[in-house]
Amino acid sequence: MCGIFGVIGTREVSSILIDGLRKLEYRGYDSAGLATIQNSKNDQFGKLSVRKSKGKLINLSNSIKKKPIQGHLGIGHTRWATHGKPNEINAHPHVDFTGQIAAVQNGIIENHRDLSKSLQSKGIKFISETDTEIIPHLIGLEIENLLEKGQDANGQTLLKAVQKVLCLLEGIYAIAVIWSKAPDALVVARRQAPLVLGFGEGEFFCASDTPALVGFTRTFLPLKDHEIALLTPLGIELYDADGMRQHRAPSLLKGTELFADKRNFRHFMLKEIYEQPETAQLWIDRYLPMDLSSENSFPLPIDKSLVEKIEQIQILACGTSRHAGMVGAYLLEQFAGVPTKVYFASEFRYAPPPVSPNTLTIGISQSGETADTLAALRMEKERRNSFKDANFSFHQLGITNRLDSSLARELENVIDIGSGIEIGVAATKTFLGQMLSFYGLTLLFASNNHKRSSQEILALSNDLRLVPQQLTDLIKKHDALSKQIAHLFAETKDVIFLGRGINYPIALEGALKLKEISYIHAQGYPAGELKHGPIALLDQHVPVISIAVPGVVYEKVLSNSQEAKARDARLIGVAPCGPESEMFDELFSIPKVSEWVSPLLTVVPLQLFSYHIAAHKGLDVDQPRNLAKSVTVE
Ligand code: AGP
Repeated sequence: MCGIFGVIGTREVSSILIDGLRKLEYRGYDSAGLATIQNSKNDQFGKLSVRKSKGKLINLSNSIKKKPIQGHLGIGHTRWATHGKPNEINAHPHVDFTGQIAAVQNGIIENHRDLSKSLQSKGIKFISETDTEIIPHLIGLEIENLLEKGQDANGQTLLKAVQKVLCLLEGIYAIAVIWSKAPDALVVARRQAPLVLGFGEGEFFCASDTPALVGFTRTFLPLKDHEIALLTPLGIELYDADGMRQHRAPSLLKGTELFADKRNFRHFMLKEIYEQPETAQLWIDRYLPMDLSSENSFPLPIDKSLVEKIEQIQILACGTSRHAGMVGAYLLEQFAGVPTKVYFASEFRYAPPPVSPNTLTIGISQSGETADTLAALRMEKERRNSFKDANFSFHQLGITNRLDSSLARELENVIDIGSGIEIGVAATKTFLGQMLSFYGLTLLFASNNHKRSSQEILALSNDLRLVPQQLTDLIKKHDALSKQIAHLFAETKDVIFLGRGINYPIALEGALKLKEISYIHAQGYPAGELKHGPIALLDQHVPVISIAVPGVVYEKVLSNSQEAKARDARLIGVAPCGPESEMFDELFSIPKVSEWVSPLLTVVPLQLFSYHIAAHKGLDVDQPRNLAKSVTVE
């Protein structure tokens, strides 16, 4: 979480920093701050200015407009609080005891308590509750040492001091540091948290994510783990953890996919819901060619020999991505006959199952930067690498929307869901893209292991091809209906979502969407579980949303829905229109489709329902409280 943006060049930087941070605000938005260094005509050293504001970036931007701060070098930060409340004091940048060094950090410094105690014993006073404040203080002490040893006050000295301090820090983080006595230097470093460098014309940048660079430069270079860089107006020097100079060519940002535009929609989330037919069509064009008989019938980036070796699959993910994984697991097991388990990435790390041979581990993350998922995948890789057996084969596969992410860089096989940039913190079109990837994998495995006949494979493929048009129709219909009924739920405190089989994960996803953006408490349950406890909650104040799709569990879900109705719950159905659907007080009708493809459709009314309730309540749909788009802390 948190976004870092820094720039060094020849122009005034405060408005550049605000523009860069605006594109990183999805990473955290509870407070923001800037620090700049202004060269002084009378003094070889510069003047450090810091400005911070509580709340959204707009507050900082207004404050800077009212009273600008000067400088050709600066760092900025948009925060998602981990240590200490979201207020102005805890906002970054933090400044050292000399008042000359400013630092921003994204991540967590796990040993900050010990380091802070030792700094306090040296008489250093802390003003914030953050883990970050130790960083400028430690750098300040290190610089004092270096100056005493005769080093000059310049960028190289700042670089050396940061290098020393990095050895003391434990955790996952990225940092950017400036020093008023080195007005031509910006030092940045990363340890597992993302940071990219940008090469402009006479100016150089650092940012937590590449979209922040768009508009300034298209030439970028992601920092590798443990690397450190010195940015000056003349260029960038890159070093590894041992201080060895590194030389790597930067890459070019391609296409327009990183530009985010709300078009005529009120919120990004609504726009992204509307983009789902396009996500589905692009996915079909790319991964589901018409000729299924050809050698390369499912052109996913996975080796056929690998598919043949795999005996089981484990899926690691968080939040919405995990729900996509659950739909995937159902498909892989029930359609393709491959035993598959889904894990919370954050739990897997500490309680992994015994290592078993010929396993494919799939990590799903739309951002590709989720710390829990990355940590679980790294741990799994290490665990298996230490297991030496020639007959033993294991592989990892990533499913992500960001090919420039850590997940995509670290894994050998990656499926790009290609949904285009998603700005709304609540995932919608990327969820669809993730589910579609599992349909592709399912078809791939099923056609290789012959667990399904070619007719069954063809039928599923044909059903998938109908999805883009079905989505278009559904979105139009249910956008209007959700808007119309949203006011009925404005005062609702609890909602229960029911689903069974392949639609149970959709019940979970529906509940998560509602919680995230409308702040209404919601729980998803397997419909059969209702009677084992949750039914005690039901009365006329607790609506029940039931996903009932004809197929193996249809009758059962309808009975479970009746049980809820008998307890006076307002019953909302996500089901095809027909005599059975008359029991519902409200119906989000869906077309009569095969149960296999139904999750791709049943999720849509739930997204729109949550969206319209939140919008009706006047809430900040795209940046809900306490959340962030990219969760880079464990
Ligand atoms: C989705 O609406 C949520 N904001 C959240 O659950 C998210 O899915 C989770 O944090 C995982 O993110 P990732 O897909 O980027 O790994």
